Amino acid sequence: MMFSRTAFRIRGARKAMRSFSLAAQHQQKVAVLGAAGGIGQPMSLLMKQHPAITHLALYDIVNTPGVVADISHINTPAKVTSHQGPDDLQAALEGCAAVVIPAGVPRKPGMTRDDLFNTNASIVQTLAEACAKFCPKAIICIISNPVNSTVPIASEVFKKAGVYDPGRILGVTTLDIVRANAFVAEAKGLDVNTVNVPVIGGHSGVTILPLLSQTTPKASFSNDETEKLTDRIQNAGTEVVNAKAGSGSATLSMAYAGTKFTASVLDALNGKTGIVECAFIKSDICGTGYFASPVELGPNGVKNNLGIGELSPYEKKKLEEVIPELTKNIKKGEEFVLGK
Ligand SMILES: NC(=O)c1ccc[n+]([C@@H]2O[C@H](COP(=O)([O-])OP(=O)(O)OC[C@H]3O[C@@H](n4cnc5c(N)ncnc54)[C@H](O)[C@@H]3O)[C@@H](O)[C@H]2O)c1
Repeated sequence: MMFSRTAFRIRGARKAMRSFSLAAQHQQKVAVLGAAGGIGQPMSLLMKQHPAITHLALYDIVNTPGVVADISHINTPAKVTSHQGPDDLQAALEGCAAVVIPAGVPRKPGMTRDDLFNTNASIVQTLAEACAKFCPKAIICIISNPVNSTVPIASEVFKKAGVYDPGRILGVTTLDIVRANAFVAEAKGLDVNTVNVPVIGGHSGVTILPLLSQTTPKASFSNDETEKLTDRIQNAGTEVVNAKAGSGSATLSMAYAGTKFTASVLDALNGKTGIVECAFIKSDICGTGYFASPVELGPNGVKNNLGIGELSPYEKKKLEEVIPELTKNIKKGEEFVLGK
């Protein structure tokens, strides 16, 4: 009797240790900067439900307490803390595994993403400076547009601070892949859960280049289908901006895409292998300095850049349109910080 009770206690202690070490391995603090916005709110809602996130630090310059009071009532384990205004950035950022940035103004009908530069460049610069100071090892996931310029801005800020690691600053282009998967599945009558279309280049207009020829499962497209689908994927954001008629750009689908991307980053930080997402990162694949392509994520952010594979003649031609636009956007971002 004594023996079996002891054995029971030892087994119980071992089980507790095992679950403690599992819990310790999965302790993940994530900050959302711009959490009270159109993307920030639904993305925080989705993140509150994610088992890998143990602490969700929500930061904005306005309306954070209300969002946090609301979300924190959800009976999922993640602790939610409220941070408002620059003085509260340190508390929001310290100890973060990942920081997701959807802060800044969205497009209105008739605007390009580049039209947002003047407002969003300084917002991203300020937030990146705080990240470089308070969580230099976190994986920084940038949603704020124009992504083609805001990623170079954040990178230059990290370089200036002497803490730059190119594998840790990622532009979130996931929504382009989400859209491409949805549109291709619909057009070809495929199970949307199984479709994957890589999207490379950047995240605006012609720089968004879906590689329909690399769709999995393998699908064939007529020239007309290729042109129509490519055009729709490139202009899907504008489709939403026009439908919202002045009240903003994609928020709900972006919240889904941002959470999916962050979950992949966290899975990879936790040691899960074979995690692949497209992202806009420091890359010399096409000589532009930054480029979006499928990347394998790992414990330090980008583990392997998987490249762009073999392009079809149509995609090769389209790539020629990507390079000059992307080069211009990247230079604009770099010069914003370097002051040229
Ligand atoms: N990467 C993508 O695929 C993608 C998709 C859609 C939208 N976006 C971009 O995401 C950004 C946000 O869009 P939205 O619809 O949520 O806009 P929004 O205006 O609804 O929300 C933006 C939030 O940022 C906050 N903010 C402003 N300055 C800030 C600062 N200095 N620090 C912290 N927070 C600050 C605002 O208070 C607001 O709550 C836009 O730039 C938009 O273009 C990107």
